[in-house]
Amino acid sequence: IPVDPFDLVIFGGTGDLAQRKILPGLFRRFVAGQMPAESRVIGAARTELDSAGYREMVVEAIREFGGDFTYTDKQLKDFLGRIEYTPIDALGDAGWADLQELMKGKGRTEAYYFSVSPALFGELAERLQQWGMADRDARIVVEKPFGRDLESAHALNATLATYFNEDQIYRIDHYLGKETVQNLMAVRFGNMLFEPLWNAQFIDHIQITVAETVGVGGRGEYYDKAGAMRDMVQNHLMQLLCLIAMEPPARFAPDAVRDEKLKVIRALDPVLPHHIVRGQYLAETGNEEKMPSYREAVGAPRSRTESFVALKTHISNWRWAGTPFYLRTGKRLSARSSEITVVFKETPHSIFGEDAGRHRNVLSIRLQPNEGITLGVTIKEPGPGGMRLIDVPLDMSFAEALGQDAEQVDAYERLIMDVMRGNQTLFMRGDEVEAAWAWTDPIIQGWEARNDVPKPYDSGSAGPDYANELMRRDGREWREVT
Ligand code: BG6
Repeated sequence: IPVDPFDLVIFGGTGDLAQRKILPGLFRRFVAGQMPAESRVIGAARTELDSAGYREMVVEAIREFGGDFTYTDKQLKDFLGRIEYTPIDALGDAGWADLQELMKGKGRTEAYYFSVSPALFGELAERLQQWGMADRDARIVVEKPFGRDLESAHALNATLATYFNEDQIYRIDHYLGKETVQNLMAVRFGNMLFEPLWNAQFIDHIQITVAETVGVGGRGEYYDKAGAMRDMVQNHLMQLLCLIAMEPPARFAPDAVRDEKLKVIRALDPVLPHHIVRGQYLAETGNEEKMPSYREAVGAPRSRTESFVALKTHISNWRWAGTPFYLRTGKRLSARSSEITVVFKETPHSIFGEDAGRHRNVLSIRLQPNEGITLGVTIKEPGPGGMRLIDVPLDMSFAEALGQDAEQVDAYERLIMDVMRGNQTLFMRGDEVEAAWAWTDPIIQGWEARNDVPKPYDSGSAGPDYANELMRRDGREWREVT
């Protein structure tokens, strides 16, 4: 379904995110017929470029990061016809009059994407207002990181609120745009099967793993000040936790969903120091192409920033009291794999005798790669050998189940189209972000107060063994990272 014609201004329009995600994503939506031909995309950045030069950059970005999808020369040409560029100085006055001129009286949906350093968010909001572009219908899209603690997030919310209403602010967490993340809600609230069992009485524990094989790459400067807790846990993992644990919202509508997520965050127990493990990756050895250690990659030989976190927490409410939630994320691990695993309790009694053992169902929701949902069920082992039980997967791989017809939509594409539709369901509300910081702040402060040094782990491993110990102590184990 096409959205209404829009003008999207991308501040930071020459930057990495614009080139990798935003521009190729917009082009894919254009080819899919979702971005109306009257729309415009306006790159705005410090770089001195004209629109023709910017269009060349856009073509390059589509070629390099567009993925393999087919389009015609005409489609590309038409899309480029919708692209403009204007140099701008976020901190000064240069370029603002030109942008104002470009945006004048078009009567379309107007959105401004802040794909810039967070230090500039407030400045941009202020300038938009100064130059008469912050009217009631304008929308702003704000990238992460949204603050680095509760105080800075609160200040940023307050600054943005000076110029924009909450329903104009779209705080991006791109995990919410991932197909399976939305499927999680469909599975939970579109089936009768799961919800009656979705509580501490039937669920032993829940694991959330977001494992990456990449290291910090060229983002060392940012990352070393952030670490995995701020970069991944405070946003992506907590959002997944909210969706898996929240009460059923009355409607799939922005505030109904966000109210329920907020309640989960507010019910989270503080994390005890012995329930959290931080790690930092070592160099990869035995590989021809030697990959640097974390400390080498960020150029800080004594860095104490974590590239891995594993933790245990509880949600103190009626539904979840007693069910632990284990969260884990890290860079340079053995595989790229994001998965939520719901481990049900064992059957209370085995009617098949001691030998058959007690079994349990495991529901795994795989975000990437190979998106899909698998339910482990127990059946009789085929053959004449008597009543022997085995666990087999009931598998629903989305690619297989839905075939080639299932349209692959990247998280950013979906989210940008939601901005244009004015749908905030998959965006974080200001109070949610602050609540998430209120939970993570004491953890980070604890590390600082104790001068905590992250445990080294081998690149290509599953993280430091202490993370396994965290599980073993509870008589449980992590799902293998594959
Ligand atoms: C980003 C983090 O938000 O998410 C990165 O800043 C991380 O450090 C990335 O690599 C992971 O996203 P995805 O979609 O590749 O899982």
